[in-house]
Amino acid sequence: MTNTDYQSDTIKDVTPEPLGARRIVVLISGSGSNLQALIDAQSHDRLGGGEIVAVISNVADAYGLKRAHEAGIEAVALPHREYDSRDAYDGALIKVIERHEPDLIVLAGFMRILTPRFVQRFLGRMLNIHPSLLPDYQGLNTHARALADGVASHGCSVHFVTEELDGGPVVLQAELLVNADDTAETLQEKVRSREHLIYPIAVQWFLEGRLQFSAEGAKMDGHLLPEHGMRLSHADAAEELDEDLDEKLDEESQG
Ligand code: GRF
Repeated sequence: MTNTDYQSDTIKDVTPEPLGARRIVVLISGSGSNLQALIDAQSHDRLGGGEIVAVISNVADAYGLKRAHEAGIEAVALPHREYDSRDAYDGALIKVIERHEPDLIVLAGFMRILTPRFVQRFLGRMLNIHPSLLPDYQGLNTHARALADGVASHGCSVHFVTEELDGGPVVLQAELLVNADDTAETLQEKVRSREHLIYPIAVQWFLEGRLQFSAEGAKMDGHLLPEHGMRLSHADAAEELDEDLDEKLDEESQG
């Protein structure tokens, strides 16, 4: 073997195969507006080379299934009512998900408590979005509870899913400064548009290999993130969303 042969063999051996699209399965229960944000990001090539290969809903008439269908994505209804137990349902769900060989599972308004078996199966490659600045307001009715407490800021969080409900390591948050005249409805609207902003970004980071789940917490580019993950400020989110910067923000900047 000549030196040249050796070199060309070596180069051939180490040249990686081109990476196929990273496969994403999205789980929903309802309107699927976050799913739509992900579909839109994918169509603008802003999803880290990811492809949504299936959308699965536990609610047969969820509007999100229609969105999936219209985008040419396989839409699967898997109603939980047809199963005797949570364990039986999650077993069936695991089978449907695995058939699609996903790199990432994205929960986007999937209103089910997951069994430990399910969580363990996909640990480290399952993200959720929650309408609060975690660890505050885990669970339901987050906007009304935040308002009742008179908080100055609220928002949403993308986090890795663990067995603790809404308790896995946080990756990214978007903050919202609460106005005196905000209601649960206005908060929901403003938080929802922030969700649509940050969820595709977190998915992109994951699929680019920048984001990892570890025993100590979420890591970005190898560095452990703080408890609340990375945070998009009110001002930056408002600018991205073309919102009017509200009085509260003006007051803050003056004071
Ligand atoms: C969002 O508010 C999300 O934070 C919560 O469920 C809702 C889903 O909304 N987990 P959509 O179905 O994406 O419109």
